[in-house]
Amino acid sequence: MGCCMIVYDGEFIIGEDSFDEMSLNKTESIMCQGNGYICVRAYAEEKYPLRVVNTFIAGTFNKYFDEVTELPNVADAFSLDIFIEGVRFFLTRENVSDYNKSLNLKTGELVRSFKFRSCDNEFEFEMRRFISADNIHLGASKIKVIPLIKSANIVVVSGIDGKVTNSGDAHFIDVMRRFYEREFIVSHTKTSQSNIDVFVNVGHRTFVDGEEIFDLPKPKMGRKSVFGEFNFEVGSELIFEKYVSYYTSIDKDVVDGQYYEILRENMKLGYEGLFLRSAEALFLKLWKNDYIEIKSKNYIDQLSLNYALYHMFVMTPAHDNRMNIGAKGLSGEGYKGHTFWDTEVFLLPRFIVQNPLAARSLLEYRYLGLDGAREKAKLNGYCGAMFPWESANPDDGEVTPKFSGVDVFSGEPAKVITGDIEIHIVADVAFGVYLYRNFTGDDDFMCRFGYEIIFETAKFWNSRLEDGDDGLLHICDVIGPDEYCEHVDDNMYTNYLAKWNMEYAIDCYNEILHKNPNLLIEIDLKTGICDVINDIKLRYEKVYISTPDEDLIINQDSSYRNLPEIDLTKYKEASLVATISQDYNMEQISKLKVSKQADVMVLFLLFGEKFSDDIKKANFDYYEPFCLHDSSLSLSSYAILANDIGYFDYGYELFSRATMIDISQEMHSCDDGVHAASYGGVWQCVVYGFAGFRMIGGVLHINPKLPEEITKLKFGFYYLGRRLEIKIENGKVDLKNISGEAVSIIVGGKLLEV
Ligand code: BGC
Repeated sequence: MGCCMIVYDGEFIIGEDSFDEMSLNKTESIMCQGNGYICVRAYAEEKYPLRVVNTFIAGTFNKYFDEVTELPNVADAFSLDIFIEGVRFFLTRENVSDYNKSLNLKTGELVRSFKFRSCDNEFEFEMRRFISADNIHLGASKIKVIPLIKSANIVVVSGIDGKVTNSGDAHFIDVMRRFYEREFIVSHTKTSQSNIDVFVNVGHRTFVDGEEIFDLPKPKMGRKSVFGEFNFEVGSELIFEKYVSYYTSIDKDVVDGQYYEILRENMKLGYEGLFLRSAEALFLKLWKNDYIEIKSKNYIDQLSLNYALYHMFVMTPAHDNRMNIGAKGLSGEGYKGHTFWDTEVFLLPRFIVQNPLAARSLLEYRYLGLDGAREKAKLNGYCGAMFPWESANPDDGEVTPKFSGVDVFSGEPAKVITGDIEIHIVADVAFGVYLYRNFTGDDDFMCRFGYEIIFETAKFWNSRLEDGDDGLLHICDVIGPDEYCEHVDDNMYTNYLAKWNMEYAIDCYNEILHKNPNLLIEIDLKTGICDVINDIKLRYEKVYISTPDEDLIINQDSSYRNLPEIDLTKYKEASLVATISQDYNMEQISKLKVSKQADVMVLFLLFGEKFSDDIKKANFDYYEPFCLHDSSLSLSSYAILANDIGYFDYGYELFSRATMIDISQEMHSCDDGVHAASYGGVWQCVVYGFAGFRMIGGVLHINPKLPEEITKLKFGFYYLGRRLEIKIENGKVDLKNISGEAVSIIVGGKLLEV
């Protein structure tokens, strides 16, 4: 049905080569623009019924009646209506030619250019837009229209449209809309339950046939909207610039003065000046330090890695520790802006290694969530902190919706039980703390936040364990990472991490007992750890851990291996994911030997040093054929493992598939938002997989294993407060310590002082 193609151009450009309304949503997601504070989908300025207009500001969560808290779509400031000779402008496959839409990942600019035919005239259009990486509140667009046959009357209606919802849920109450000085358009709305004020400001500069025009727009005010109408007689060229700023009442960077006055000051620099500043800031904040050079026979590897880094910048609210990364970043309504284990297990490593300050902020968010997690534990009859499977505001507690999608058989909404029983998140958060601490050596973080998280999570596990007839402790009725297996007992990943979490709490306890007894007293007041530590010491060793059988296979859980097998070919070959849910409901899927995603493999990724290559191989061979990779979190874990165990060709194939999750030619793979964790997964394939980075206990090991396709890797990173650079090429590893102070790293099995 669709007719357009995604095009990959050089290292930094991702584009689309023709116009097709059916495919609008894909490029809205993959070309979204932002800076961690705000993100705007790359929707067309002009209206289409299938267009999804979303602007999200991190942390502005709101609860609509009895639904779960979600990130609300704020007023739209980039849409506008253009009328040419009285006819509304919009594209169809028939009236457009030379169409190109592209995002420059390096500069952050989105450009659409095309020729548009109206009955007796033709126009060249160029529409550019950016969200500033320099001033996080700011964005701008610049539209150039050139009549090609004769002059034309062009009317532009531009302003702020507050008639936005999240699929029908209206989160905002109108507080004020108005013009200032007859030219600045301003709106003030408030979220209906969380009372967060959102202020949007718009200004314009216009140029006709090379001259700046100072005519004031005709004000127009409708329900929830405020616009100005501009009327132009255009001979050779119209340039229409729109400047936009967003602020909220929860911003930490409180600004002085009226927002529209600040906008006016910025507008003096013009679109080009502001854009240049933004591109420079993006270079400094992202590319200068975090660029990873990957020389590959497949040029797309560099582009897709740059694409992943770009999005991880856009989606990460590193400026505010009350906020975290949503499963769809800030790029769409999917998953309601909620944070999952995706952060700690898939995305956090990228920040720990390359931007430890951002990593710390993401973990502080979990610390701020301790009260909500304690509340959830209490509600469920447990102790300590039971981190929510899905979280919004840090202290909201659990926000997983109770229903999603449809049960194909009953025709009713399908139940979601992850919020009740997908509990491995508790240990995933603890693991994030452990990894951050080991990699950065940030003791201040541990003293202020980390120890408390470790103790509270260990207390949770201690209370969650169940006595078995075998004299061991079990964890029953859970969902492990593999979400196609509901209500399972002794999920290996969950049990292993629970046991590790308890053991690590004992290590931390002993550490502060000796190093800083006063701190222990302080933390004990908040956690009561001293009363339970002996119990934890007695019980952690009894946590049931599946041991490899004679074929070296580890049980994913107590039932998986006895489940009946079905032919999975059709689902494996489908171009879209989760097609199995069209044939079976969740209850039925749970009774089949089929996996949605990597499970035991993720354990090997986190604690690889504890399992031999033979065990990893045997389990890879056993589990992968049953895995549909129906979660975007799956391919990268398998890819890294494949590379680790020497399945280089297959590992590279899985890596290539992982890089294409959102940017393939499948035009609907990410309509409701990008797959944030998969970008962390791609980064891990390169840094953990090919470059072979692994923290083993407190020491960094580097053991590069480049597949045949990749001939060089070069990047900078931080380790124990030092800045280092690594180059891997021709079988050689060059490590440079930029910061001076020596540090020990084990490279290829040898201890080096770098
Ligand atoms: C996956 C989870 C993941 C969630 C959010 C689900 O489809 O199964 O592992 O946390 O998506 O990305």
